[in-house]
Amino acid sequence: MIKTMTKPEAESRARKLREVINGLRYRYHVLDDPEVTDEIYDSLTSELKQIEAEHQDLITPDSPTQRVGGAPSPKFRKVTHETVMLSLDDVHGDDELLAWETKIAKYLGAKKLGPFYAELKVDGLAMSLRYEGGVLVQAATRGDGQVGEDVTRNILTIHSIPFQVKPPKAIGGNFEVRGEIYLPKKPFEELNKQRAKAGEPLFANPRNASAGAVRQLDPAITAQRSLAFMAYSLLGPALTTHQKEHEILMAMGFVTDQHAQLVGDVQELIAFAAKMQTERDRLPLQVDGVVATLNDTNTFRRGGVIGKAPRGAVAYKWPAEEVTTKLKDILIQVGRTGTLTPVADLEPVVVAGSTVHRATLHNADEIERKGILIGDTVILRKAGDVIPEVVGPIKELRTGQEKKFKFPSKCPVCGSPVERIGAEVAYRCTNPDCYGSLLLQLRHFTSKNALDIVGLGPKVIDALYDAELIRDQADIFHLKADDIAQLERFGELSASNIIRAINDKRKISLPRFIYALGIRHVGVETAQALAQHFLSIEKLRQANLEQLQKVPDIGPVVAESVANYFKTKPKQELLDQLIEEITLEKMTPPKKGPLSGQSIVITGTLESMGRQEAQAKARAAGADVNDSVSKNTSYVVVGANPGSKADKAKKLGVKILSEAGFLRLVG
Ligand code: IVH
Repeated sequence: MIKTMTKPEAESRARKLREVINGLRYRYHVLDDPEVTDEIYDSLTSELKQIEAEHQDLITPDSPTQRVGGAPSPKFRKVTHETVMLSLDDVHGDDELLAWETKIAKYLGAKKLGPFYAELKVDGLAMSLRYEGGVLVQAATRGDGQVGEDVTRNILTIHSIPFQVKPPKAIGGNFEVRGEIYLPKKPFEELNKQRAKAGEPLFANPRNASAGAVRQLDPAITAQRSLAFMAYSLLGPALTTHQKEHEILMAMGFVTDQHAQLVGDVQELIAFAAKMQTERDRLPLQVDGVVATLNDTNTFRRGGVIGKAPRGAVAYKWPAEEVTTKLKDILIQVGRTGTLTPVADLEPVVVAGSTVHRATLHNADEIERKGILIGDTVILRKAGDVIPEVVGPIKELRTGQEKKFKFPSKCPVCGSPVERIGAEVAYRCTNPDCYGSLLLQLRHFTSKNALDIVGLGPKVIDALYDAELIRDQADIFHLKADDIAQLERFGELSASNIIRAINDKRKISLPRFIYALGIRHVGVETAQALAQHFLSIEKLRQANLEQLQKVPDIGPVVAESVANYFKTKPKQELLDQLIEEITLEKMTPPKKGPLSGQSIVITGTLESMGRQEAQAKARAAGADVNDSVSKNTSYVVVGANPGSKADKAKKLGVKILSEAGFLRLVG
């Protein structure tokens, strides 16, 4: 958290942080009930470190920053590891990796390092499995690296761990396998669903759930969790490369990382880590980076150990997806359709590689359910491309100054009362002309996928609105160059350019026009479907619920929203005015084409054309173009860097087309 504090503030914050961090440590190591992720733990510890660095006299001997490693808990039998269980040094980003290479290469008397065996770094619990005569005799946690805990009984419940194996001759019957116990994302989500139903507290992530499960005294509880094991090293004779270890592990029936590969040097390693990062969210298990090990066992050994980690291996960690920060305030945003959305105003913090100031809190119920107070230290999560989310507060860090958030009864923009409609969770401003939503409606009307009026971006719209030159969408067509030229920052030339741009859009397509109206739930695709079905605005505005639901891909919620829109008096008046100003291009009924009756989804970047162009081609060929993949989808066209849609298509067995295949089909 970036903030300057007075000395007493720093002292009290440091005290609280120590209490919380020690509490978390206790929950993890003694109670076997971890509460938060490692990332959160790190985030809090780094805040404490920062305070201690600024105020050195505040460092206490019992500060969690002053101790290393965790001691085993007393309730399991102690096991002394024959070979210490080391940890890995972390690097964050390419610069740190390159600096690491320089340092280690120098130590080994080499110019550069490589080849490496690179594999995923699984976010779970390190485990040592000892086999004698090919039979599993002992499973132990890492503990402090020297002494761990015997959890054999619990580990026997994990199906991916073989009890008995046939090792190749060179290995012999006695060896040790090391790897990570983890809970895949799917059973993790199911587990949490069940817990929510039973009113039990949720696990923050799969790592917590698996760590807790392994360190249960009752193996029956371990058995209830669908834990899995991924092996990453084999300790035994006759192993000349790390890759060989993986090959033998796999041959003996252990699960190893299927993405693992030999990389020639650090540059290739960087490329591998970057590629895996793009796939991170689609992997079935939680992974927080890549582990690279010098492939040649002799070289690896020659590197020796520094502190608790081998010199010859490194963990390349991706940016944390969970951090802690302070919730300064909760703001209310009035959306285009009048919905009031609470938004977290956060102390800026870097998460998943970008600085975040704001995060949606969705609605009042969500704030209540998560127990969030203004002034709380909160956990912020940002996974991949997903928008940042406030997971919840760290209640132990409260000072007593936190305030409960009260949802406003009046719209913060126009002051009209707000209401909840039916069973909806959202509050809405009751004023249909609320200028908060009106402004956004106006901005939407001229935006790229709507009328696309160049020069009428959000700033210009705001200025025109402030000058009372526009009050609704139709006013845009009544603007005069003189009106605009009077505004600050606008000369005559730019004013006449804007007027020309507006006049250019007096004739537009029906789908664009429908989208531009800003009807709740009507995006580009839905607007297209409505236009294609009704072929004129007159037919659309007269359609009843039943007729609307007959439109392909339109469900009851969207149908109702559309019907409601056209029913309201102000919207009818607006529409009448707009129709006087705008000519809608004639829609022709869909031609019979090579893709008639087929539904198609386009994903990824195409080489020879933009997405919109491809969609237009598909429509011209008679296809129904959709945004999301379902089992009713006929084809998914997959370009470069496709997202989850390509995966979903594979899963559902939907036919996948390359760009070339698509072009062939549409002729
Ligand atoms: S190799 C010398 N490979 O990460 C330690 N570790 O932060 C050799 N981990 O203690 C570890 N996935 O528990 C290795 N593919 C992988 C891993 C992995 C997860 C864990 C392991 C280790 C910790 C270090």
